[in-house]
Parts: sequence; C-alpha cells; structure tokens
Amino acid sequence: MSDLLLLNGPNLNLLGSREPEVYGATRLEDIEANCIDVAEELGHTLTCYQSNAEHKLVGRVQKAAQDGIAFIIINPGAFTHTSVALRDALLAVDIPFIELHLSNTFAREDFRHKSYFSDIARACLFGFGAYGYELAIQAAHVQLTDAEDE
Ligand code: DQA
Repeated sequence: MSDLLLLNGPNLNLLGSREPEVYGATRLEDIEANCIDVAEELGHTLTCYQSNAEHKLVGRVQKAAQDGIAFIIINPGAFTHTSVALRDALLAVDIPFIELHLSNTFAREDFRHKSYFSDIARACLFGFGAYGYELAIQAAHVQLTDAEDE
C-alpha cells in the first residue's frame, strides 16, 4: 500500500466547461473521484490537489516528501511550458512522477511542444483525455509493484 498524489495546475479546475473540444467534458472533481476509486481498488490511497498558483504547487511537492508520498501524477497545465521552479521542486524531492496531459500537446501550438518535466519524469501520457488519469494511476501501481519486486 502506497500513498499517491495527483497534482493539477492552472485552469484545470475549469475542466468540463473549458474548451471541451480540446479537454473533454469531464469535470476535475469527477476525474479525481474516479482516480481515488481506482487507487483504492489497487490498494493505495490517493490525495488530490489543484492550484492555479505556481508557489502553491511547489509547496505541495515539497510537502509530499514530508508526507511520505511514494508517487506523484502531475498535469502541470500551462506551467508545463514555463516552470523551472516546479521542475526544481520535483528534482529536489526525488519522488518518481508521471507527467500527464489531457491533450496531445505535440499536435498543438509550437510553444506547447516544450516541457520542463518530460526529461525528468518516470513516464509521460499525452492525449488520452480524462482516461489518461486512470491510466496513470494504473501505471503508477505497476511502477511501485515492480520496485517492490526488485
Ligand atoms: C494541458 C496542456 C497545456 O498545454 C495547457 O496549458 C493546459 C492543459 C493538457 O492537459 O492537455 O492547461 O496540460
């Protein structure tokens, strides 16, 4: 049993109404509730946190180390393309993480092709919509199980 953390960055609180043709119609609270269920079925606990503020996400990553979080799933939203601070926080705590995006950012504007996270992530998921979050929980479980077997 491990403690997992799901982080969502700016504007992801608007999921459901925000550009549904790009991000889908599922609300963040429904994604989070489903992820909590999936994590529980796999024997883990999942904490969810969303913020529009970079410093709050940095603080939550730092707190994850104190809380003994074993794995992070993060959709950094627009901070994907800008945030050295959030990258440095993830490097500092050294907790394995999956970078997740609802949309396939490589099929969009050029500025979305650059990520400050992909090269330090354990794995990345792009373009699966809300289903990607469920996939990420399952993938985190496999990663944690593999680590136990080593
Ligand atoms: C996003 C992609 C980002 O480019 C964008 O700024 C977001 C959402 C995604 O989930 O597809 O806010 O991270």
